[in-house]
Amino acid sequence: MKNTVPVSIGSREPLDECDLLAVACFAGESPEVEGLGEAWRAAAARVAARTGWEGRPEQRGETAVEQGALSLCGLGRREDLTWRKLSAWLVRVADAAQVNGAARLTFLLPRHRETMGEAAAERIARVLALSDYRFDRFLSAATARRPRLSRVTILPPAGEEATYAAAVARTASLAAAIALARDLGNTPANEATPLWLEERAAELARERGIGFTVLHREELEQRGMGGLLAVGGGAIHPPRLLRLEVGSEGPIVALVGKGVTFDSGGISIKPAADMDEMKYDKCGACAVLALAWLAADLALPLRLRVYMPLAENVLDSRSYRPGDIIRFPNGKTAEITNTDCEGRLILADAMSLASEEGAEVLLEYSTLTGACIMALGRHAAGLFTPDDGLAADLLAAAERTGEKLWRLPVGPEYLEEMKGVHADLRNLATRWGGASTAAAFLSQFVGGLTRWAHLDIAGVAYVGRDQNSHPGATGYGIALTLDYLRRLTGTP
Ligand code: BES
Ligand code: MN
Ligand code: ZN
Repeated sequence: MKNTVPVSIGSREPLDECDLLAVACFAGESPEVEGLGEAWRAAAARVAARTGWEGRPEQRGETAVEQGALSLCGLGRREDLTWRKLSAWLVRVADAAQVNGAARLTFLLPRHRETMGEAAAERIARVLALSDYRFDRFLSAATARRPRLSRVTILPPAGEEATYAAAVARTASLAAAIALARDLGNTPANEATPLWLEERAAELARERGIGFTVLHREELEQRGMGGLLAVGGGAIHPPRLLRLEVGSEGPIVALVGKGVTFDSGGISIKPAADMDEMKYDKCGACAVLALAWLAADLALPLRLRVYMPLAENVLDSRSYRPGDIIRFPNGKTAEITNTDCEGRLILADAMSLASEEGAEVLLEYSTLTGACIMALGRHAAGLFTPDDGLAADLLAAAERTGEKLWRLPVGPEYLEEMKGVHADLRNLATRWGGASTAAAFLSQFVGGLTRWAHLDIAGVAYVGRDQNSHPGATGYGIALTLDYLRRLTGTP
């Protein structure tokens, strides 16, 4: 699969051919090299004996062995190792291997709570399968390209071989789905218009036998989808609502994803700085499309319905204005106080349809508010739901996949602030609690459903230029949603 690298499990002796063997070493300990051949163990000992070797985090020493090279990597103190540090290590080594043209990379994993058990094995397999991901479609041949990895081999901690073998097998199509969502998310708005995303979704649906329908302008008008029509009104690329349907038995699960192909803010225009990053404002839609593909690939026993409201929020004489009042399919009206609060408007249309079509669980993903980034930084997504059971399930899933998720409030006090003057609602209230007031707005479009959740992924859907590594879409939420759906349906 393009953009994912094949991951497999290997043995320590004989060691499969590799260009680089990465061995971890905790501070104050000797390298865990039991079971490796003599030459490799001697190489690790050689590096560990160098003056200055302490096994500090990020410390690395290389030495050539007849069959390849060994890289001894410090991980710091054993008790300080977290998933964040471990995954950063995996990525760093893969980066270094690529730069040095080492195509076949092997990791010897130490025994540690972060490397043992099913969830850890799946996290590690997923990160490694994606360690060669790049979005280079627009780089000309003249621009230096890094060599690619051809395969990654894991040497699991002793006794964990079967766990890892199962995890690696399960993770391959998950990694492919994440790479797909990243490719779509990274595609700039001059190519990734609502029409382009419709074509990509149609292709995937055709390949996988997924039910696919599109509501174009005319159908949006018939159904009274005032949010999409307003937000998408200024663009030459018309808005639409994509609907995908996978599976014919089991619980009805609706996934909704915000698909603003570019968010300039509209008439309430955004400042220029970092506005280019608003090409990522479609990452929620990209994630749910990838999940539809994944559910079909894995034949999950559920009736999955995926809704992708797509629109471009730009300026024109046809753009919607502050002060406009719009109407949604469920009859509610909203006054526009700020055209940059567009996500909730297109989501209102899509969530109304999802709840009308009998969703039993509704999960919605959106790069919705800067306020959520203010609250949580770029480390965690915000979780908003009135359902404690659903919150617990989603938080547990996120814990297992290593995608940080933090529950924030949604409730009547926030909803009160969203009352309009001349309409039922307004789309922006005060400066305070913006992530929760946005969630309260969405709560008006789920019918009588209580098992719904909104995940505000504004801070985690992409890595910005200013952050230290690998800028671009992340595919956040796909792994945790798959984990949740597996448990919901009792699928191993
Ligand atoms: N798409 C943005 C939210 C966003 C901001 C996502 C930064 C990723 C990074 C959303 O449509 C938006 O513009 N929200 C505004 C609302 C404001 C005008 C009240 C925001 O949060 O800044
Ligand atoms: Mn906006
Ligand atoms: Zn937006």
